[in-house]
Amino acid sequence: MATHGKVTPIMQTGHPPVFMGAHALAHLEQRLAALPATSTCFILGDETTMAQCLPELLAHVPALQAAHNIQVRSGEQSKDIEVCRALWMHLAEQHADRQAVLVNLGGGVITDLGGFVAATYKRGIRFIHVPTTLMGMVDAAIGGKAAIDLGGVKNLVGAFADPDATYLHTPFLRTLGKRELLNGVAEMVKHGLVRDANHWNEVRRAPLHNLEALAPLIERSAAIKSEVVAEDPREQGPRKLLNFGHTIGHALEAFAMESTQRSLLHGEAVAIGMVCATWLSWRTGLLDRDRMNAVEEHLMGLYPSFSFQATDEHRILELMRNDKKNSSGEYRFTLLTGIGSAEVDVPITAAQVTEALEHYRLLLPDAHLRLHSQA
Ligand SMILES: NC(=O)c1ccc[n+]([C@@H]2O[C@H](COP(=O)([O-])OP(=O)(O)OC[C@H]3O[C@@H](n4cnc5c(N)ncnc54)[C@H](O)[C@@H]3O)[C@@H](O)[C@H]2O)c1
Ligand SMILES: [Zn+2]
Repeated sequence: MATHGKVTPIMQTGHPPVFMGAHALAHLEQRLAALPATSTCFILGDETTMAQCLPELLAHVPALQAAHNIQVRSGEQSKDIEVCRALWMHLAEQHADRQAVLVNLGGGVITDLGGFVAATYKRGIRFIHVPTTLMGMVDAAIGGKAAIDLGGVKNLVGAFADPDATYLHTPFLRTLGKRELLNGVAEMVKHGLVRDANHWNEVRRAPLHNLEALAPLIERSAAIKSEVVAEDPREQGPRKLLNFGHTIGHALEAFAMESTQRSLLHGEAVAIGMVCATWLSWRTGLLDRDRMNAVEEHLMGLYPSFSFQATDEHRILELMRNDKKNSSGEYRFTLLTGIGSAEVDVPITAAQVTEALEHYRLLLPDAHLRLHSQA
């Protein structure tokens, strides 16, 4: 049953709001109950979230019991134009009109896919995000970006489109595996490093297995993301703070997809990207050595190592050039100027990127063995 208590929105004036705390879903119930009877609700989820999270959502939000459920396959492959086509057709067959509301229940795949489908169906219907992964809660479901993949290129087609609201219910994370949890923690570390030293300290000391202890930190991270986005919704300037670790991270993610090694999750690639960017921050004189060491030590201890050869560095640089953020062949990095502060658009040369990748390779546990065998 829903508890009709006080709901604390983290963004009282901002738009769109992110609701969190123990009564967030009670607030969703109130909102939906107040909709006109002509509004049809749809819930979009994947195989996992429909099995693991839908029963809990319906228990807290009875207004959704009459909703139409739509399920897609779990995984990135659902961010696909054919899946969109099936969803648009389904909405049309169910006579969804401009009053319809789409509730996206899932991780970043579902909020990206559902946001894009809702933003384009009949030139836009309302949608609500209910993220169920940590990556969704602290990143994907906040910020109004929705996209699908095309021709093997991630997020090639999409739109800026705001949900009516995002609702964080951290108990959904109970069923999330450790690797997926750490995937989202990388973005939380990033939020602390670029914006809030206290948050960085709390996140690095947090007991990751204890959801109750983690919940307020998840909420703080979500607040940081929505604050930064509110300052720059269209990503012209300050929002680039959130790119910290992503310039090299995206290239490594793409590189891992091409290689035969195990794949890298986005957060795992960003963690390596942050190690490299932190080193570049020191190399360019923006950050002192002690702070660099602290960041490096934490990230290297938390994430599995990813090995690549010196000969792969050329390909990684090439992938960075393909990234839309590096048009005209220039590398522009978001780098740390301290713990909790960063500078955007710092020019970095290809040689410096190679040095940073080399530095990461030297930190790997078997680095000295490899160097001996090459000698
Ligand atoms: N729009 C943005 O600003 C933005 C930001 C970050 C990431 N993204 C996108 O988000 C996607 C990645 O998001 P993700 O990491 O959440 O991936 P995901 O949505 O694929 O979820 C990861 C896995 O966890 C499962 N899952 C979801 N909730 C669960 C739960 N409560 N318990 C157990 N399993 C659960 C899913 O079924 C899936 O198998 C990428 O496509 C990325 O491009 C978008
Ligand atoms: Zn990211």
